[in-house]
Amino acid sequence: MEKAKDFKGKFLLLFVATFVFIFILSWKTPRRDRSAPKPLRAPPACPLWVSNDTITPLRNTKHFLVSAYMDQRVEGLDIRIIGLFRRDSVQPLHCLFCCGGHSSTTTPTTILQHSDNFGFPFVTTDAMCGIPKNCHATHVTLLTQPHTERTSNLSWLPIRNHKTNGKKEMKFNFTVCISNLFGDYNNVLQVAQTLEMYRLLGVNRVVIYNTSCGPELSRLLDSYSQEGFLEVVSWPIDKHLNPSHGWLFSLVGGDVHYFGQLTTLNECIYRSMERSRYVLLNDIDEIIMPYQHDNLMSLMNTLQQQQPNTGVFFIENHIFPKKHFEPSGRFHLPQWNKVPGINILEHIYRENPDRNVYHPYKMIIQPRMVEQTSVHEVLKNFGQRYKVPPDVCRIIHVRVGLQGSLTLEQLHVDKRLWDFQEKLIPNVDKVLQRVGLLHSDRRS
Ligand SMILES: *[C@@H]1O[C@H](CO)[C@@H](O)[C@H](O)[C@H]1NC(C)=O
Ligand SMILES: *[C@@H]1O[C@H](CO)[C@@H](O)[C@H](O)[C@H]1NC(C)=O
Ligand SMILES: *[C@@H]1O[C@H](CO)[C@@H](O)[C@H](O)[C@H]1NC(C)=O
Ligand SMILES: *[C@@H]1O[C@H](CO)[C@@H](O)[C@H](O)[C@H]1NC(C)=O
Repeated sequence: MEKAKDFKGKFLLLFVATFVFIFILSWKTPRRDRSAPKPLRAPPACPLWVSNDTITPLRNTKHFLVSAYMDQRVEGLDIRIIGLFRRDSVQPLHCLFCCGGHSSTTTPTTILQHSDNFGFPFVTTDAMCGIPKNCHATHVTLLTQPHTERTSNLSWLPIRNHKTNGKKEMKFNFTVCISNLFGDYNNVLQVAQTLEMYRLLGVNRVVIYNTSCGPELSRLLDSYSQEGFLEVVSWPIDKHLNPSHGWLFSLVGGDVHYFGQLTTLNECIYRSMERSRYVLLNDIDEIIMPYQHDNLMSLMNTLQQQQPNTGVFFIENHIFPKKHFEPSGRFHLPQWNKVPGINILEHIYRENPDRNVYHPYKMIIQPRMVEQTSVHEVLKNFGQRYKVPPDVCRIIHVRVGLQGSLTLEQLHVDKRLWDFQEKLIPNVDKVLQRVGLLHSDRRS
């Protein structure tokens, strides 16, 4: 008892002494500093708040930031921030970096608006800047003033595609980038068939930007993402802007071309740059189909041998009108009766594109050879571009006909999809079964 008291007393004394010592020290230090040159304040810690959103409003501006990527291809401008900028309000901006936990000095940006805007107020924009010396940059943000804003709550973007030492093997051969899902799109059967077709052709990853979609389709996509074949990127553009349902501002108005389609296509190229040898840029109802090769790899090996130093391959779009059905009905399968959407195996009649008028192409690209893209062409690239002959590869696009007045006799029979039916049908069945959409034999 006595011993314990004694111990407590000593402890208290020590405690008070330490406190007094610290107090004197802290009281003396500032007085001494007043005459000395002012020391630099430690740079503010960062990142305090990291944006996990795909669309981040940029403070004090009318712009939105999407993502930041390391890009070593342009001398001195190592960072590319992809954004959606309001064209009438572009001002000088400055990059602020987070380097090993502390924010850096700012560096100036070069702002590159993409040339395709179709008249809309918002345009896909790259803000490019250099990384300060001795900065191990992990995050970046943009400021309107060229100095550190110490106080504010900054929206830091993580920097992706960090430079790797040595050439790493690419994880994927082919990635398909599907720009946007919106409205209540619920074309489950066509999407399942398209994704399974792509898998048979050697695609390793599909990236889809989702603004909204129908309930059954959402279930299907969830199932594909759990499996790892699909990457669904949330794209809530309608929470920030008034997106258009058409391609030309003068016709439809609104803030941005087709739900920001151009931004997502560019974002997908950079997302894929360090992990995929090739990227296919097409819509969800289109299949880029080799006609002389079994898969995309052997197609590209052949094309790349014939066309070295080519990073952009144009593929011609061919419409298969959905109103014309193959007459035997052999692929009108009962188990798909209750699945919403188009059965592409039933549509074998192909329109020949009217080559006297503009008709669109989609693309297979090497992502490292492209800097900026639009939907039917690239805007900035390295190396050559090549139009692939339609007998080698073309797009199977089942939809409403473009030349609606054509009769069956004027259309071309094209059963290329049937070449894959033996594997395609069971694979489609399997995924539909998984999400509970397959109509089984059970009486229902
Ligand atoms: C962003 O994600 C990180 C890691 O998942 C998390 O720690 C952070 O809180 C998230 N930030 C916000 C603003 O949600
Ligand atoms: C920081 O800003 C974001 C949006 O820009 C907001 O969601 C968040 O709550 C803010 N945090 C603080 C601490 O103000
Ligand atoms: C990529 O293609 C090569 C050659 O065809 C093949 O050996 C390899 O397995 C493919 N990689 C993936 C991830 O599919
Ligand atoms: C797509 O977006 C809608 C709207 O935000 C959401 O309800 C749905 O769950 C999303 N689907 C997937 C597969 O992410």
